[in-house]
Amino acid sequence: MKKILIIIISLTSISSDASAWGKDGHRIVCYMAEQLLSEAKQAAVNTLVSQFNVNGKTYETFAEGCLFPDYVKGRTDEDAWKRYRKDGPLHYVNFSRKTKQVKGAEVKNSTNIMFGIQKGYSYTAQRNPEGLFLLGHVFGDAHQPLHAGYADDLGGNKINQVAGLYGTTNLHAVWDYGIIEVALNGSDWQEYADALLTQIQEENLSYDEAEFADTIIQESYDIATSASVQYCEWDRKKCRKLGPTRTLDKSYQDTHQPIVEQRLKMAAVRLAGWLDKAIHWVE
Ligand code: ADE
Ligand code: ZN
Ligand code: ZN
Repeated sequence: MKKILIIIISLTSISSDASAWGKDGHRIVCYMAEQLLSEAKQAAVNTLVSQFNVNGKTYETFAEGCLFPDYVKGRTDEDAWKRYRKDGPLHYVNFSRKTKQVKGAEVKNSTNIMFGIQKGYSYTAQRNPEGLFLLGHVFGDAHQPLHAGYADDLGGNKINQVAGLYGTTNLHAVWDYGIIEVALNGSDWQEYADALLTQIQEENLSYDEAEFADTIIQESYDIATSASVQYCEWDRKKCRKLGPTRTLDKSYQDTHQPIVEQRLKMAAVRLAGWLDKAIHWVE
């Protein structure tokens, strides 16, 4: 019985991750963003982290706290966590298959990641530590290309006969963590993040303050619907659904690892910019 319980618990903890940029992706984005802040603003972030306590759940670092919006997803069957039950759609946005430009496009759900970004930002500006973790989390998700997709396949979660380099999995999971885990190649996420941080400095990456969430989502959507990703195929009118079977090998990794790394770096640079603005009470 004990064994069965352990198996059930570990299975549910795996599936609760299945619809969010994998844990390391979120840690990497939030850690790098924090490193890009001034020391004074880093201190403000850490104060908020230490003030966070929801149902006894606490976090030691911003990087870990950014996992909270996924943690609650796995617990919404429990009464204490029921206020998070409707928050799933804050992690992604889905469009009509005819959409080319996301600005003004038909969106498949009124609560979506645009709303998540707004909510995270305004709560952070009100010095609410939950806002900080939401903002950090959804900036990661917004840069995961398949978090801007289609509802009929759940952003690729239903493209679930993927074989090859990433094992038996689905296309969404390849982008949540498959590509990142192969890129890590056994090294720890922080080491990898430090290397990406060096690249951010070398490439002088910055972001345009005038751009809003729709810029990020347009980029994600353009990547998700590009041919090499094998998510869908453009005909004249729409990005047509393909079957559920894919074999993805090393050439898929070679093509898309640089894209994932660029998305992680831009997520961090932009998150740092938004945090800098939201933490308005520090000079
Ligand atoms: N569930 C439904 N659509 C999704 C998407 N695009 N990303 C993640 N989870 C989803
Ligand atoms: Zn998420
Ligand atoms: Zn996801």
